[in-house]
Amino acid sequence: MSDKITIPAQGRDKDTILDELSKLHLKDIPWKEGRAWSMVYYVDEDHQDLLEKAYSSFFSENYLNPFAFQSLKKMELEVIQMTASLLHGDEHVTGTMTSGGTESIFLAVYTYRERAQKLFPQIKAPEIVASTTIHPAFEKAAHLLNIKVKKAAIDQNMRAQPAELAKLISPNTILIAASAPSYPHGVLDPIAEIAALALAKKLPFHVDCCIGGFMLPWVEKLGYPIAPFDFRVPGVTSISADAHKFGYGAKGASVLLYRSMNYLKHQFYVVTDWPGGIYASPTLLGSRPGGAIAATWSAMQALGQEGYLKIAREIMQATNELKEALEGIPEIIILGDPAMNIIAFSTINNQPDIFVIADQLEQKGWMLDRQQLPNSIHLTVMRHNIPVVNQYIADLKAAIDFAQKNPAAVAKGNAALYGLMARIPFRGMVETNVRHIFEELYDFSKSTSITEDEKPVSLPDPPRWMGELNRLLTTLAQLKSFWKKR
Ligand SMILES: Cc1ncc(COP(=O)(O)O)c(C=O)c1O
Repeated sequence: MSDKITIPAQGRDKDTILDELSKLHLKDIPWKEGRAWSMVYYVDEDHQDLLEKAYSSFFSENYLNPFAFQSLKKMELEVIQMTASLLHGDEHVTGTMTSGGTESIFLAVYTYRERAQKLFPQIKAPEIVASTTIHPAFEKAAHLLNIKVKKAAIDQNMRAQPAELAKLISPNTILIAASAPSYPHGVLDPIAEIAALALAKKLPFHVDCCIGGFMLPWVEKLGYPIAPFDFRVPGVTSISADAHKFGYGAKGASVLLYRSMNYLKHQFYVVTDWPGGIYASPTLLGSRPGGAIAATWSAMQALGQEGYLKIAREIMQATNELKEALEGIPEIIILGDPAMNIIAFSTINNQPDIFVIADQLEQKGWMLDRQQLPNSIHLTVMRHNIPVVNQYIADLKAAIDFAQKNPAAVAKGNAALYGLMARIPFRGMVETNVRHIFEELYDFSKSTSITEDEKPVSLPDPPRWMGELNRLLTTLAQLKSFWKKR
């Protein structure tokens, strides 16, 4: 067990602290070298410098009270309006900035629950209808708000199926949700068809554009075939678009838009009998970091439409190169028809095993998103990935070669672990194990000091995990034979 960590008795020297921070960075994935294909949305050093300066100039300001900070109010309203025009909203479209995709989705779910409670009080067990690829933020929100998410199967192109969604609609449905595009495969759900269903059933329809909201409009302007996905489509009642993704703002910024105040009004929360005074809050957070708003506003001012279009053009060119290279590898299959710069790929009939390939790529220093149902690898092509596309393809080909020559590797390393996790039919068992990982991560009686020079806390060693899973499998098998004997 490590020594107990406390706030240092005496303050430390500023330079030593900053030095330690830069050393801590050495433990992270070198994303600027293009080694990660998700999570960081980066333009260049100049833009980074602007974001940092803009953020710092509103570093201490707290947007808890918009009347105290007229500056932030102006910037928030302008970001909302700029986003609304990008997504073809009319003058009635309104919304709020939030801290990210998850908060935007949480608030949309909350808003529609509040609306349903007021307009349809007979609904006692509210439900959301979506497809299996919808972002987990919906389920998290629904869980917190005591709502059920009913999920419909996707088609073979990984798209939501309006007919399957329709089957799940009941008198308890309060919302339909779909993605433009979905995170796992980057495909666009058939928004117009789902919107028509929503209109026919008189239901609100949220389009999750968290990852696509600041990318699809430029991809469309570049001439790629993008079916309408935004406020042009009648029946779309709200859209979430993350400014901290392809809006190239600082982390902690998303925009949640509603077709009109008729919806947004249900989002506001007011407490009138608090000794601290009347408390009113438009979003989930209480204190709201001014820096994230200022950085997003500055990003939009600095890049302009021309800048966003230029970056989108470069990224899409690299995406096309990557796609062509992947299509040229006989073992590889791209899942669905990617709408923008997100590609998910696997191997045909999982031969050779995609997770063995992933292990090989990881050994070469690539950070991967491993996906399941079906097993696949996810890539979001960012600007900093452009110079390494060829290297990635070369390493991928070598990884395929290795996997073909070493079929036994499927039973080793992370390939075995993820393969097993993906195959286990009892998802509750998987959940229990993943929960254990978090428990270990935050169990300070076991974890070590972050200042020690050692590997960051990550997944526990596969053999221990495997052991636990095997134990659970054995217990289940025993239970099964017990019931059979009775
Ligand atoms: C489609 C989609 N929705 C929601 C989210 C959640 O966003 P955040 O991680 O900012 O909470 C993501 C994140 O990648 C996403 O891709």
